[in-house]
Amino acid sequence: MADIFSPVTLGALRLANRVVMAPMTRDRAGSQDEPTDLMVEYYRQRADAGLIVTEGTQPSPAGKGYWRTPGIHSDAQIEGWRRVADAVHGEGGSIVVQLMHVGRASVRANKHPDADTVSASAIASRERIAGPDGQLVDPETPRALETAEMPALVEEFAQAARNARAAGIDGVELHCTSGYLPMQFLSTGSNKRTDHYGGSTANRIRFVVETVEAMAAAIGPDRVGFRIFPGNPYNDMQDDDPADTYGALIDALDPIGLAYMHLIHYPQPHLDALALLRPRWSGAIIANNNLQHESAQVLLNEGQVDAVSFGRPYISNPDLVRRFRLGAPLARQDRDTFYTGEERGYTDYPRWSPA
Ligand SMILES: Cc1cc2nc3c(=O)[nH]c(=O)nc-3n(C[C@H](O)[C@H](O)[C@H](O)COP(=O)(O)O)c2cc1C
Repeated sequence: MADIFSPVTLGALRLANRVVMAPMTRDRAGSQDEPTDLMVEYYRQRADAGLIVTEGTQPSPAGKGYWRTPGIHSDAQIEGWRRVADAVHGEGGSIVVQLMHVGRASVRANKHPDADTVSASAIASRERIAGPDGQLVDPETPRALETAEMPALVEEFAQAARNARAAGIDGVELHCTSGYLPMQFLSTGSNKRTDHYGGSTANRIRFVVETVEAMAAAIGPDRVGFRIFPGNPYNDMQDDDPADTYGALIDALDPIGLAYMHLIHYPQPHLDALALLRPRWSGAIIANNNLQHESAQVLLNEGQVDAVSFGRPYISNPDLVRRFRLGAPLARQDRDTFYTGEERGYTDYPRWSPA
């Protein structure tokens, strides 16, 4: 029985407790897509988590699709992440950067005018995305990646992983859900390719497997994790048989010896992802979705998962672990400042103190 406050080692990552801050896009990066002083303060405040997974971060200009998301491909961005890493380590925390390439889930006005919009196939998402002013607009139709371009694309992720380590960040997590590029390759609805990256299950998982292998070769498998949510419909995703797709994916990733799988465990009528994947995965699992202190401890008690992640509670409770320890009440989040407001709704949530 693993207590939520007990330390745990996930590959090379040493967590002081089993509470993980889930990745959350907050749209507050600087004009060069670099982490700012405000972001340094935000992550520093939340460093009591055993592990922070940062907001989705693009490995290249084409990987950006939302307003003011940070990158990890330029010197200024690496320097910004170095300051974030130093601040979190200074408080005794650990931190990995989530690598997020949105592929077709992209609005042109949110990114550099020259940046490409690419996907597995030239099929547009029918789900609208917020532009710079917060108004929802249709994403543009992507260009299908050429087979010959794939090695360079995979290398972008490997280089982003090296950049993270150069910045002193402890590791990287590949974002493979929410309808972004990796999931666009995995899913039958968005991948209609006829080369060896499309068609059969073995072909649809190839891009993710090659990318994870390249990241693992770049910085060591024990510093690499990945995030999945089988059957997630977000950003117009559709897959004929998620159990088949993700079963095959986990079988292929298991031998690499990665730090962890980060699983969004959402109850679905025909798919229990944890029951499906747990027997096929010999590594650590971080479970997410709608957890509270008590329900997270129940999951840990069942012995199925090694750590638990919290998203929204971390927005408004920078000292979440401390509050759990003290049995203190949790503050509610203000949804209006999730993606806007600079310090408001970002770094101005106080630590708990008795009235
Ligand atoms: C404001 C916001 C931004 C998010 N951004 C990301 C992201 O960049 N990458 C990601 O994998 N998930 C993202 N998520 C999903 C969360 O990581 C998490 O899975 C979700 O909030 C459910 O966990 P919770 O019930 O503890 O909040 C985001 C969620 C919120 C609320």
